[in-house]
Amino acid sequence: MLTLKEEDYEKMPGHWVLASVGKTVLRPGGIELTKQMVANLQITANDHVVEFAPGLGITARLALSRTPRSYIGIEQDPEAAKRVSAYLDGVRQTCVVASAENTGLKDESATVVYGEAMLTMHSEKIKNTIVSEAHRILKPGGKYAIHEMNLLPDQISVESKAQIQKELSTVIRVNARPLTITEWQQLLEHNGFAVLKTGTAPMHLLNVRRLINDEGLKGSMKMALNMIRKPKARTRVLRMKSTFKKYEDFLGAVSIIAQKK
Ligand SMILES: C[S@@+](CC[C@H](N)C(=O)[O-])C[C@H]1O[C@@H](n2cnc3c(N)ncnc32)[C@H](O)[C@@H]1O
Repeated sequence: MLTLKEEDYEKMPGHWVLASVGKTVLRPGGIELTKQMVANLQITANDHVVEFAPGLGITARLALSRTPRSYIGIEQDPEAAKRVSAYLDGVRQTCVVASAENTGLKDESATVVYGEAMLTMHSEKIKNTIVSEAHRILKPGGKYAIHEMNLLPDQISVESKAQIQKELSTVIRVNARPLTITEWQQLLEHNGFAVLKTGTAPMHLLNVRRLINDEGLKGSMKMALNMIRKPKARTRVLRMKSTFKKYEDFLGAVSIIAQKK
């Protein structure tokens, strides 16, 4: 996906369009919510960490800076997995091309599992499969963290929910199925986890202030230049930005830390 050509921009999933213009932080709550999530996971040198969908590996670096005993990334996109593998040692730190639905990892082999901006793009059934896979590979007491897009308020009407999901899916070109915060918590509880902590942030993925915070001034300028050079990508990015803006009162970002019961 990361290597798609300009003519492919029309059908490319939104996160790879953003990556193609230089965006590296692809999760809804930005790097601050990620840092909070990683701090709450309290990763130590004794931990066996598994990351679902590392994407470009920004959070992998944060987790690795805590020198866990092992790190395994489970990424379904081969190009992304290759990119993440480039800075792993290949022995205690690896990234495999696989789906988080079926990681191939042993039962109770991890102490920490986390994934960002990946459950949102799956149906209810697949969300459950992925969360129960996290539960299967975790040791009892192990922690699972998610960082996803949420819908606001908890009492959002069925019609508004359907409308937002439909428009988001059209502009992002993935099956965008954000849940309310309570629904995210219930998804975890339903699959054998106890919710420990919930943090929130605005869904400001493409707001200028967030861009500068996530990508730095230089990175943001590079993105602006790339958007000038790639008009088809620019059209897609601006369409995503205006849909996020249209629904800003209904969208948020949530990170939940849960523990295997
Ligand atoms: C929006 S990006 C997020 C990437 C990264 N987690 C981040 O927050 O910057 C979505 C990522 O999820 C990966 N992905 C989606 N479903 C997956 C699955 N079932 N198993 C593994 N990776 C998956 C995609 O390939 C992509 O890298």
